[in-house]
Amino acid sequence: MSDRCIRPSAGLKGEINIPGDKSISHRSIMLGAIAQGTTEITHFLKGADCLSTIGCFRSMGIEIEEKPDYILVHGRGLKGLAKPDKRLDVGNSGTTARLLSGILAGQSFSSSLSGDASLNARPMARVMAPLTSMGADITSLDHNNCAPLLINPGTLHGIHYQSPVASAQVKSAVLLAGLYADSETAVTEPALSRNHTELMLQNFGAYVSSTMHRDGSATAQIEPCGELYGQQIFIPGDISSAAYFIAAGLLVPHSEILVKNVGTNFTRAGFLKVCKDMGASLTLLNKSFEGGESRADILVRSSSLKGTVIEGELIPTLIDELPVIAVMAALAEGTTIIRDAAELKVKESNRIDTVTENLRAMGASVTPTEDGMVIEGSAGEPLTGARINSRLDHRIAMSFAVAGLAATGETVIRDSACVDVSYPEFFASLEMLYQ
Ligand code: S3P
Repeated sequence: MSDRCIRPSAGLKGEINIPGDKSISHRSIMLGAIAQGTTEITHFLKGADCLSTIGCFRSMGIEIEEKPDYILVHGRGLKGLAKPDKRLDVGNSGTTARLLSGILAGQSFSSSLSGDASLNARPMARVMAPLTSMGADITSLDHNNCAPLLINPGTLHGIHYQSPVASAQVKSAVLLAGLYADSETAVTEPALSRNHTELMLQNFGAYVSSTMHRDGSATAQIEPCGELYGQQIFIPGDISSAAYFIAAGLLVPHSEILVKNVGTNFTRAGFLKVCKDMGASLTLLNKSFEGGESRADILVRSSSLKGTVIEGELIPTLIDELPVIAVMAALAEGTTIIRDAAELKVKESNRIDTVTENLRAMGASVTPTEDGMVIEGSAGEPLTGARINSRLDHRIAMSFAVAGLAATGETVIRDSACVDVSYPEFFASLEMLYQ
């Protein structure tokens, strides 16, 4: 048990450096491992999820050195992974499980992967189906379309996969398997999801192209590849982690926070658009661009927020930020409607349920729907401190810590240590901004 007490804040002030982006950190290890030569990664996120990815590749013979300021991955080429002598442990990490499945499908050895109870309850059919149609031999060992998965060697063929969901994990699994296929592989998704895999694959020397279609759908395409080549990667701060401090700065009166080094890739930045739509005072400073990824410092000042509608193509660009957006909506003036977000049900918890349960515990008015929720804002009237069930979901724990800052009385986050998955220093950083 690791309960954490959050006191209301009279104003948050200062600067905060945001840890490295989780999605990009995973991909940097994976591509570094299957590239030729050494990949040097700066500002890598040492959260539990990314450490699971490191553990998996070490089990397949990849030497990964953790220096104080950077990581060195000694890649062994596309065909250089060794058969692991035990089941690969992906921990709580859906990104590790799904992207790794794509890589393992192209190997000449059998392997199996498994995770914690939450991971092993999450749907894997979404990657098993396209990988199987490419020729992969992949089985759910408990016959429930979930991990543990057994992946036997298969000969992979290029396909054009029409994905029913806008999911970067699905898209990336197929593209990574496409590296090992005998012809071109393409994935069309109903709306563009985060494009870090496409950008990083290009930097490593793969032929990848992306097309946006008039109806909002998007296609990414990859050619079979001889080799990838090790790179230097500087990872921007994770906008999904920055979102908690941006929300806190907006919601707590008398706050002014400079959130530094935030990745602002347009496929991830829907949260900033929603903040603006809600009337937030945000200023982007020191904008820069490296390795295809944009970044900026974000100056946040307390703001009176108003309700908004969040739907359609915007959803994949802020899917992980919806819990904290729901907290902002609960304090805004007017109604916020979140729709087209059924994917919330298959995250580390069913986030429609966990957000509803915890917002209600704090006195907010929320109606869950099949694909989102409707929230009646309190127009700045504080929420009431409560005991929050994180359900071991890091994003629920951090979102409700933010809610606790703008509540009356104490808020207790149960099992708060789950923040280690994506942001081990979260509570320490929050503490530093208290006045
Ligand atoms: C991720 C993609 C998203 C996101 C997850 C990380 C990634 O999942 O929710 O936290 O790194 O590709 P989906 O692709 O399933 O939407």
